[in-house]
Amino acid sequence: MKIERKILLNPGPATTSDEVKFAMLVPDICPREEEFGAIMNTIKEDLPKVVNAGDEYTSVMFTASGTGGVEAVITSAIPAGGKILVVENGAYGTRMAEIAETYKIPTVRYRLAYGDFPDVATIKRYLDEDATITHVGIIDHETTTGMRNPVQEVCDTAHALGREVIVDCMSSFAGLPIDLQRWQADYIVSSSNKCIQGMPGLVFVIFKKSALNALKENKHGRSFYFDIYSQYDGFRNTGQMPFTPPVQVVYALRKALDLFFEETAEGRIRRYRRNYEVLKEGLSSFGFRFLLEDRYQSGLLIAVCEPANEDYDFNSMHDFFYARGYTIYPGKGAKELTFRLSVLGDLYEADIRSFLKEMSAYLSTLNEPLKY
Ligand SMILES: Cc1ncc(COP(=O)(O)O)c(C=O)c1O
Repeated sequence: MKIERKILLNPGPATTSDEVKFAMLVPDICPREEEFGAIMNTIKEDLPKVVNAGDEYTSVMFTASGTGGVEAVITSAIPAGGKILVVENGAYGTRMAEIAETYKIPTVRYRLAYGDFPDVATIKRYLDEDATITHVGIIDHETTTGMRNPVQEVCDTAHALGREVIVDCMSSFAGLPIDLQRWQADYIVSSSNKCIQGMPGLVFVIFKKSALNALKENKHGRSFYFDIYSQYDGFRNTGQMPFTPPVQVVYALRKALDLFFEETAEGRIRRYRRNYEVLKEGLSSFGFRFLLEDRYQSGLLIAVCEPANEDYDFNSMHDFFYARGYTIYPGKGAKELTFRLSVLGDLYEADIRSFLKEMSAYLSTLNEPLKY
């Protein structure tokens, strides 16, 4: 069977390999069978290895999209009487704060324009001035803008002041260098359908085993389904997820992890970096401008400023590319109007070069050269 290949330049769910797609074609199996639990267990063991987590960390999975994983950490990790400071320089920072507020968790928002770089000294000031803040939440790669946030510095600062750190690594896990033994972040979250190149449907939290006692005390404090301790403990005791796992997505994630370890973390990061460099160079040569300065760029996604040409319109540009097998992505509230192109997924330099050829064709449909 041949499956048409699409080039997804949206930041996940990403383009996947045929190997990952075919991994889902398995005989039906009840997820309560030992055989299935054994596969889940290998995934649970392997996920922390992707980010060099070492023995002090473990992981837990939930059936959900990425937001569910963030919700699990926020609702499970912050004890009654706790308070979270959220670094909010993109839509996903805002979402983290909204989740906390939904559960009536006291929340302090360090608000920045989407695309501004957080100031670690300001974060320290928030913590110095409010001893009741117990947690800091930050997005590693803010997919809204393509910015890589200063997670190491935030972890060092927060830990020196005895606070825990929650990092949303949704679009960086397996795609950007992350060394959890250096970060020492208390909780990180990612999902199956971004840089790990699996299918959507699973989210995972990697956290310090030393947190288990506190998680047990918070058990079912706020959420029934998204409770980290009961999910973790249930799997530990039975080898089963308490609630139905997305069976075929689990097989796809197993395959995606095998392919990741085969490619190696360095290999994957290098491939994405090359994709990004080729993309950025090509777009620059056409005259496009970008939201972020190079020093803030993650190298996984580029927020391109929308041109001022009268006949430019994102939706018609989207349709032009979509008809040719490429999916591009709109902006999401950044401080300037942008559209976004991401290079994560099973994408290679040749894909980026063929996209650039199409971009040249698209630009030739405009009445005037690109202008700002
Ligand atoms: C950084 C970040 N956090 C959270 C999410 C939310 O994930 P989902 O849409 O799978 O719920 C995304 C999705 O793109 C993301 O990029």
